[in-house]
Amino acid sequence: MADFKDRVRKILSKKETPPLCFLHSFGCQQNVSDGEKILGLLCEIGYGVTNDISSADLIIYNTCAVRENAELKIYGLVGNLKHLKEQNPDVIIGICGCMAQQEHVVEKIKKTYKQVDLIFGTFALNELPRLLYEVLTERKTAVDITEHNSDISEEIKAVRSSGFKAGVPIMYGCNNFCSYCIVPYVRGRERSRTPEAILKEVKELTDSGCKEIMLLGQNVNSYGKTLEDPVSFSELLRMINDIDGDFKIRFMSPHPKDATNELIDTIIDCDKICKHMHLPLQSGSNRILEAMNRRYTAEKYMEIVNYARSRVHDFSFSTDIIVGFPNETEEDFRETLKIMREVKYDNIFSFIYSKRTGTKAALIEDKTTDEEKGRRMRELLELQREISSEFFKRFEGRTLDVLFESETKNKGVFTGKSDEFIIVEAKADSSVIGRRKKVKITKAFNWALQGEIIN
Ligand code: SAH
Ligand code: SF4
Ligand code: F3S
Repeated sequence: MADFKDRVRKILSKKETPPLCFLHSFGCQQNVSDGEKILGLLCEIGYGVTNDISSADLIIYNTCAVRENAELKIYGLVGNLKHLKEQNPDVIIGICGCMAQQEHVVEKIKKTYKQVDLIFGTFALNELPRLLYEVLTERKTAVDITEHNSDISEEIKAVRSSGFKAGVPIMYGCNNFCSYCIVPYVRGRERSRTPEAILKEVKELTDSGCKEIMLLGQNVNSYGKTLEDPVSFSELLRMINDIDGDFKIRFMSPHPKDATNELIDTIIDCDKICKHMHLPLQSGSNRILEAMNRRYTAEKYMEIVNYARSRVHDFSFSTDIIVGFPNETEEDFRETLKIMREVKYDNIFSFIYSKRTGTKAALIEDKTTDEEKGRRMRELLELQREISSEFFKRFEGRTLDVLFESETKNKGVFTGKSDEFIIVEAKADSSVIGRRKKVKITKAFNWALQGEIIN
């Protein structure tokens, strides 16, 4: 890689002003994290970063393939770039990430979107200097979706979008093959970073003032199994908790099949870990969970929730739910609503099932209509509105720790997240951004809390 880095650097240094790159990541935080590394790599070889797409010399969309509408959005955006390319034929347009890892997508882009110069998949980040060199010298479309068995180099420094919140990948890939999901096909098998590399990164971040570390992986609680000296996720959490500093730890996402009482005990024992878990349910029906290949039952899921709440009454949960998995019946759907009522999630991310080419579920003949799926989705959202407004009311009068992130549309009102991962708003000035403050909650809405900063 070093050789091509030098060659690209040499070409770019001949330009009068440093060329600029624009990168946008879609999808999950893992993808956002990859995007930050790609920007780091581009900066190393001589690009500056811009948020203005029209002034960029290199445009990269780092894409997501998890649902069809994620892909449609990208096709739309790339289609729009045609005019830009006509006006400025020198601009380089690249597509990378999960969508680009699929052969049928590459074929479609090559055929229909000729303005694209660069296509590389999730295994080829280290190949970017070589690919760019090919585009710059040969003006041809460079493509690499080979499953190289090297992850992004530990040496590359990420260009992060926030100074006080950081995503740190602890593992890549997924072995679970949930029947609806494209991720294992586009991200490959599970592999973990070493604890040393993770601890070093967390230490550097927290030493430079980062207040919240989000550990990332498709199934974080299966961390460490592939290491030469296996280390469990709970052990890793304890090591990170032992790092000195004023910061909090979150993680995303654990898989219910691998969630143990030991993990809950670790979260509760470690003062820096937030007492909140995003625990994807997907469905409350055992029949559907089996068809999804999730490998847990609704009862096992509730055992985890109940154990956590038996130890910490306010332990909070958020979740992902898929509505309308092929042939989901009304009865199956009611089972999902039942669990939602039992758990009382503070937040849910719900998605209508989307057929993904190449997955097992794509082969099922689906008899449930789209209208029916839409109706179920509306009912589920309505129930969640009731649940969260009731759940949020409990916080009125209490004091929560809130890490403030930005100003809202209302001038002088700032928003952040509590340790429970609930949105909290309060009057303040811009000095609160990036700080953790104690906020006394005065009012609960069904999507957020409002309060007053007390110190
Ligand atoms: N690894 C994580 C989730 C990764 S994808 C986990 O196992 O929980 C994020 C969410 O997208 C999933 O939790 C699921 O709810 C949703 N999702 C994945 N594939 C989908 C599909 N084909 N249709 C609709 N939603 C999907
Ligand atoms: Fe997809 Fe399942 Fe892996 Fe999550 S655990 S990424 S839903 S296959
Ligand atoms: Fe999407 Fe890839 Fe993440 S498919 S959800 S960006 S792992």
